[in-house]
Parts: sequence; structure tokens; C-alpha cells
Amino acid sequence: MKDFEVCRTYLTHVTAEHKRLDKLLRQIVALMPNWEETTSGNWREPMLERVSQLRVELAHHFVQEEEGGCMEEAIAQNPLVGRDADRALHEHPGLLRQLDGIIAKLADERAATPEAARQIGQEFRQFAADLHQHEQAERAVLESGFGVSFEAYLDSPTL
Ligand SMILES: [Fe+2]
Ligand SMILES: [Fe+2]
Repeated sequence: MKDFEVCRTYLTHVTAEHKRLDKLLRQIVALMPNWEETTSGNWREPMLERVSQLRVELAHHFVQEEEGGCMEEAIAQNPLVGRDADRALHEHPGLLRQLDGIIAKLADERAATPEAARQIGQEFRQFAADLHQHEQAERAVLESGFGVSFEAYLDSPTL
């Protein structure tokens, strides 16, 4: 368990990390073509590269959250958040699996078809929504635990 002041610094850090991840998500969404019009595969490689980079950064972020100890401190401050904190931490493997599925599809050359591309687009948007919800739940745990309020992870949820 961490010292309370260390965790306050951590809250600032985690908020900045959530914003940075959000920016990466938006950059990836911006790479996705209008599925109705595209038949070319030139979006696939840049998207694969960005999604793979996001996978690395997200895994690192999750490890920081799992090993940082500030979730434990939040529970110690307010035991009522214990169940929500556990639920949030247990969502990490599933979120990474979602991204792995998208990466596997992007790496498949057959994804150059508009049909497959549309499917990938839907899956990525679903992943973005799930991650957004996850980070919001985590923020709620930390806010309730420490009795503080910090900036929203996403100002606009339109992805
Ligand atoms: Fe998390
Ligand atoms: Fe997080």
C-alpha cells in the first residue's frame, strides 16, 4: 500500500495517461476510412502499426495500475469502493484480448475487403467505448476512494 500523498501524485499521472490513451484512440479512429467508399488496403498497415503501439502502451498502463498499489489505498480510504476496484482491475485482460483480436484481423490481408474493414471498424469503436467505460469506472473508484474530483477522461465521448 502507498502513502496517501504518493497516490495524489498518482491520480494526476493516471489522468494524464488516460488522456494520452484517448488521444491515441482518436488518432486511430481518424485513420479509418469511410468503409462504404474504400476498396483499397492502404489504411490497414498504418492502422495495424498504431493499434499495435496502443496495445503496448495499454499493457504498460494496466501493469502500472495493477502494481501501483493506489487502488488498494483507495479501498483502504473507502472500503465501499472495493468491489468496483476489483471489477475494474479484472477487466484488463479482456480489454487486451479485444485489441489482440483486432490486431489479428488487421494483420490478415483479407481485411482489405470493405466488408472485413467495416467489421474491424465496428470492433475498434466497440473497444474504444469499452475502454472509455473502464477508465470512467476506474476514475469513479479513485475519486470516491480519495474523496477528490479530477478531470473527465473524455470531454466528448463521440468516437
Ligand atoms: Fe485500468
Ligand atoms: Fe486506466
